[in-house]
Amino acid sequence: MKRIVVLFSGQGTNLENIARKLHNKELLIAKAITNNPDAKGIERAKGFGIPVTILDHRRFQSREAFDRALVQEIREVDPDLVVLAGFMRILTPIFTTAIPNAINIHPSLLPCFKGLKAIERSFYSDMKVAGVTVHWVSEELDGGRIIDQACFYKDQKSLEEFEAAIHALEYELYPKVISRLLATKAPGTSQPE
Ligand code: GAR
Repeated sequence: MKRIVVLFSGQGTNLENIARKLHNKELLIAKAITNNPDAKGIERAKGFGIPVTILDHRRFQSREAFDRALVQEIREVDPDLVVLAGFMRILTPIFTTAIPNAINIHPSLLPCFKGLKAIERSFYSDMKVAGVTVHWVSEELDGGRIIDQACFYKDQKSLEEFEAAIHALEYELYPKVISRLLATKAPGTSQPE
């Protein structure tokens, strides 16, 4: 069975969704790693029996030192794919050169609304459509090559409704892209689709 590592920082609802749909079925989530000791996702991962490693970024002297530890944690498992699911850290070339087979999901139609508060910025913009993007991880924040996107017309009345629609789209798209990549890619490679 193909193996993935999931990186997260907070709620971990995408992690939970991937676990519910794919873990021990199409793939094994061999390890989940968080930079946040208080992340809600820790309990969610443990609920599926997924081993969780906590790498508190505040304990490292530099971004590079954190990334070196992160790379080592990932290499111990040697996964087919590394899946960032709400992992809110800027990654250095230490990560991106060592781990070329990493993907991320972002709650906007990239290249619009990179970075923080993407959902709010997308909601309040005058764009008529909104959506989510899965892309390869690069050194540029939310900037790697796009793998897939999904979108809808913005007819939600409140920010809360809009946010729920964005998350629903994430939960639909991300597992599909992960399955597709694992089915079509040789293990450990990151040839863009
Ligand atoms: C998701 O909406 C994800 O797209 C976003 O963080 C949220 C994590 O939610 N990621 C980014 O903004 C990355 N730039 P979750 O922890 O409940 O899965």
